[in-house]
Amino acid sequence: MHRPCSATLLTILPFVLPAAGCFLVPGRCLPRTAGSPSFPVVPQLHRSRDLPLEAIVKESFAQSKMAIFNNAAQAWNHSFYWQSLKPNGGGEPPATLRDKMIDAFGSVAECKKALAEAAVGQFGSGWAWLVAEGGRLKVIRTPNAETPLTGPAKPLLTIDVWEHAYYLDYQNRRADYVQAVLDKLINWEFALQNLG
Ligand SMILES: [Fe+2]
Repeated sequence: MHRPCSATLLTILPFVLPAAGCFLVPGRCLPRTAGSPSFPVVPQLHRSRDLPLEAIVKESFAQSKMAIFNNAAQAWNHSFYWQSLKPNGGGEPPATLRDKMIDAFGSVAECKKALAEAAVGQFGSGWAWLVAEGGRLKVIRTPNAETPLTGPAKPLLTIDVWEHAYYLDYQNRRADYVQAVLDKLINWEFALQNLG
């Protein structure tokens, strides 16, 4: 199904940014990447190619067209990130997701700890992901624009750990940003929805 990511972003950004971003640090906004160089490229990608963004990400990766891949993947990753957040997020995951977390990690707390470690441990820019592979939950991390879309795992949610996601509010304290996202913003229902 062709779901233009640019339209998705226009739908999601006004909802998530003021509500979720300012939730952590009153009067300031956490996710600032809407202004990053990735986003102006999205409409051009859609004007030039009548393909879903997901298909452009996979095709450009397979063909090693890295300039296209980097822009398309960053647009997709960010759209996915916005949906991974919600105002007053965090808390207990829905029962189905919680059971999967316990199966894979032993507890919800251990799953969150694995996500935090992946996010903090990613050297330089990248992403931490909760994914499902073979029906089992896993935590992975990807550098730069890389995304699970190009591999076998199904992405469930992500945390942006490019420095632009946190430096204005958290300076170099990536761990504090990640913990705040996990405790106050993460959208477990979105992860469950992606689990299918
Ligand atoms: Fe970002």
